[in-house]
Amino acid sequence: MLKANIAVLVSGGGTNLQAIIDAEKSGIIKSGTVKIVISNKEDAYALKRAEKENIETAVVTKDGRTRQEFEKEIIKILDAHNIDLIVLAGFMCILSESFTSHYKERIINVHPSLIPSFCGEGFYGLKVHRAALDYGVKVSGATVHYVNEVPDGGKIIMQKAVEVQEGDTPETLQKRIMEQAEWIILPASCEKVCKRITEEKK
Ligand code: GAR
Repeated sequence: MLKANIAVLVSGGGTNLQAIIDAEKSGIIKSGTVKIVISNKEDAYALKRAEKENIETAVVTKDGRTRQEFEKEIIKILDAHNIDLIVLAGFMCILSESFTSHYKERIINVHPSLIPSFCGEGFYGLKVHRAALDYGVKVSGATVHYVNEVPDGGKIIMQKAVEVQEGDTPETLQKRIMEQAEWIILPASCEKVCKRITEEKK
């Protein structure tokens, strides 16, 4: 069966990457396969997760590079691996318009809130959950969306709501949202988009 080639871009722990790897193994993702994991941080634990699964890895840091050079280096790797879908899984860099328009509807991102709340430039990781708790929302969640030139502004693919509980801290809320939303809707979205891509290729 024809499969879409996936590149996962990471910066940190890589629990979402793990969810994708596990979903490919269990057959939830059947229309795509992870070909490479690219990190902008040398010490990202996500790289270890990929190595453990014998998935190729690459590190492209911003150090000493302009944004254009940084992105060019990533594109070189993507091209060399014939990548069809780029998954941003905790990738803490904003990509330029020339990058995102080159891969129109071929880049997806997971964001830990219900977009359009608590999103956009400056909202990442625990900051998102802190902002949600400060506001006092009773429901938060996660969103998977296409990536365009507006940070967290592309069309939504999937969303899942998660209840905020009394006494939550940014850490407890983050954990619940990962477990109940991100690790479910990210692999499901990967399959959905890979299926579309493979059908388009036929
Ligand atoms: C996840 O919660 C992801 O949604 C968030 O960073 C975490 C990465 O965790 N991404 C953003 O905030 C992007 N704006 P992980 O490395 O364990 O997958």
